[in-house]
Parts: sequence; structure tokens; C-alpha cells
Amino acid sequence: MTDLDPFTDVLDGPMYVVTAASGGERAGCLVGFASQCSMDPPRFTVWLSVANHTYRVARTAEFLTVHLLHRNERALAELFGEETGDRVDKFARVAWRPGEAGSPILEQLSTWFTGRIEGRIEGGDHVGFLLAPVAVCPRAEGPAPRAARLPGATRAGAGPSGLRRRQGERGRGGRVGRETDPPSPVSVGSSHL
Ligand SMILES: Cc1cc2nc3c(=O)[nH]c(=O)nc-3n(C[C@H](O)[C@H](O)[C@H](O)COP(=O)(O)O)c2cc1C
Repeated sequence: MTDLDPFTDVLDGPMYVVTAASGGERAGCLVGFASQCSMDPPRFTVWLSVANHTYRVARTAEFLTVHLLHRNERALAELFGEETGDRVDKFARVAWRPGEAGSPILEQLSTWFTGRIEGRIEGGDHVGFLLAPVAVCPRAEGPAPRAARLPGATRAGAGPSGLRRRQGERGRGGRVGRETDPPSPVSVGSSHL
């Protein structure tokens, strides 16, 4: 099997908090595997580890809400990326309100959309949830909030894992995070969602 690490080690995409509700249960986790995947119609896919509580709730949910993790939201990143809903109620520790069909919207993160789950894609140890947007946050006034990116999150260093994940860890399979700056990818900026 060919290892992808030399490629994935230099990625520093935005991070998200993805939430779900179903059957009276709420769930949410930090997600780095996510991307817009169609412009017309607008579609976005998030990949959830089959090991996660969020995946188990999302399996029977109708909607997922995808929040962009803003910079300086380390406590939220640690809560959603290092704790599991199998053991703690993350929603008792944050301000949130129910959105579409109860899908939780986190008050702290102003950039979000709720998507109807249109399909599920087997992807190995993660399953892709193909989302069609049904509700979206108001457009930001003033400067747009800056997205938290993986190197910033990992260098923050707080929390038991410093927000790193390695092969074999519970949840996401790939190793992420690094000690040194990677080559800078070219940024093309716009989103069409
Ligand atoms: C930097 C980072 C990126 C992550 N990316 C993903 C991801 O793309 N998909 C996923 O399912 N879990 C991802 N995780 C793992 C979950 O956020 C983590 O296992 C969480 O504790 C699961 O919570 P839950 O069991 O309540 O769902 C990531 C964690 C970190 C620290």
C-alpha cells in the first residue's frame, strides 16, 4: 500500500465543526476532510469517521450543519476534536440553537450552512455525506472571519493531543499536523456555495 503522508503532510485546509441531530440525540465533531464538490447544483461533502459518535448520529440524520472553525477558537476545536459524544455532552458546554430539523447551530461560529443529506459515499474508514444546502448564515458584514487552518491548530499545542491525529488513532485515519512549515500552496480563494 502506498502511503499518502508526503502529500497530505503539506495540506493546510480549513477546519470545520460538523453537527447532526437524530432521534433526540445531538452530535458534532471537528472535521478536516470536507470540500465543496459541485457548483451547479451547489454541493458539499464532509467525511465522517465510522469510529465517531457523530457518524453514528449522522447515519440516521436528515441534515448536517457545517460550521467554519474561526481562528482563535481553540477551546471549541479541542471540545469537538478531542472529546467524544460517547462520553461527554458537548452541547452542554456551548451556546447553540436548533436549526433545520433540529440540526444544532453553534452560536460562536457565524459562518455555517445546513445541508440535506443527499447521499452517502463509502470511502474506507470515513463515509462521505453529500450535502445540498437548505439554509445558510447571513453574509458577514465587514471583514470575513478567518478560518482556522491545521498548522495553526496544531501549533497551538494545547490539549492532550495538541489537536494532532495519527494513523491508528480513533477517528480520522491519516496523520495530520507537523512541526515545520510546509511549502505554501497557491491560493485561489473563492467559494461558490
Ligand atoms: C485536526 C483534526 C482533524 C479531524 N478531522 C476529522 C474528519 O475529517 N472527520 C472525522 O470524522 N473526524 C475528524 N477528526 C476527529 C474527530 O473530530 C474526533 O475524533 C472527535 O473527538 C470525534 O467526536 P465524536 O466521537 O463526538 O464524534 C479530526 C480531529 C482533528 C484533531
